[in-house]
Amino acid sequence: MRNVSKSIRDQEGQPSKRLFSNITVEITRPERIALIGASGQGKSTLLRLMALLDAPDDGELRLDGKASRETDPRQWRMEAAYVAQQAVMLPGSIEDNLRTVSVLHGTLYNQELAARLMEQLGLDYLDPGKQASDCSGGEKQRISLIRTMLLQPRILLLDEITASLDVNSARRVEELLTGWHSEEGGSYIWVTHDLEQAQRISDKVWVMSGGGLHEYPGESFFSVPIDMLAKQYIQPAEGSLPQ
Ligand SMILES: Nc1ncnc2c1ncn2[C@@H]1O[C@H](COP(=O)(O)OP(=O)(O)OP(=O)(O)O)[C@@H](O)[C@H]1O
Ligand SMILES: [Mg+2]
Repeated sequence: MRNVSKSIRDQEGQPSKRLFSNITVEITRPERIALIGASGQGKSTLLRLMALLDAPDDGELRLDGKASRETDPRQWRMEAAYVAQQAVMLPGSIEDNLRTVSVLHGTLYNQELAARLMEQLGLDYLDPGKQASDCSGGEKQRISLIRTMLLQPRILLLDEITASLDVNSARRVEELLTGWHSEEGGSYIWVTHDLEQAQRISDKVWVMSGGGLHEYPGESFFSVPIDMLAKQYIQPAEGSLPQ
């Protein structure tokens, strides 16, 4: 991502507030990145840009050297896949939801992988024929993650994906994804407000604040006590949000 900027638009479609500007970052090898920052800084927007679900005002994105403009967005999203903050279930059963990805992308449905992921996330008690819309918030969140993992992307863009989960279920998600990184060599960028989780799941931290993105090695970032980090980066003083 090079020199990427984004403004919020008003009802008339005119830029009303600069969210962030001139963000330049590069991932050159499989990485585990935690993306943190106060509410409203633009973390979700940044992930959505990376999945080509939204477009920057300026700057460019490249995947394997190829500019996003020259790439089929559907192909791009199979490589860099976004898991939304609010899980949205498609009409039909849990299994219909899991199969959707292969139907949309014309790939074979990997039932074995789906069953393994359901088990790893503690969802094997669910009847695959159950209506997805009847699932709990935490179940939907995990089904939505599995649906995306069935794409077998190389980069996962994870937006507060454990926000509705109990501690044990959240740990299972962490184990699944850190295992996926070390075994499959995938990268993730994981938005979280939980700094203890950020410490567990990352080697590198991206902080969004004041309209910019700052990168820190995990080891040095977490050498400071977590409550001090939270004060500084998650609950900034009034007036420090981007104008
Ligand atoms: N489509 C949109 N139209 C207008 N404003 C938007 C739109 N999308 C996002 N915004 C605004 O942009 C700002 C950043 O939103 P974003 O969702 O990226 O923040 P965030 O850092 O993910 O926050 P949170 O931690 O609460 O999830 C917010 O002020 C939000 O209201
Ligand atoms: Mg968000």
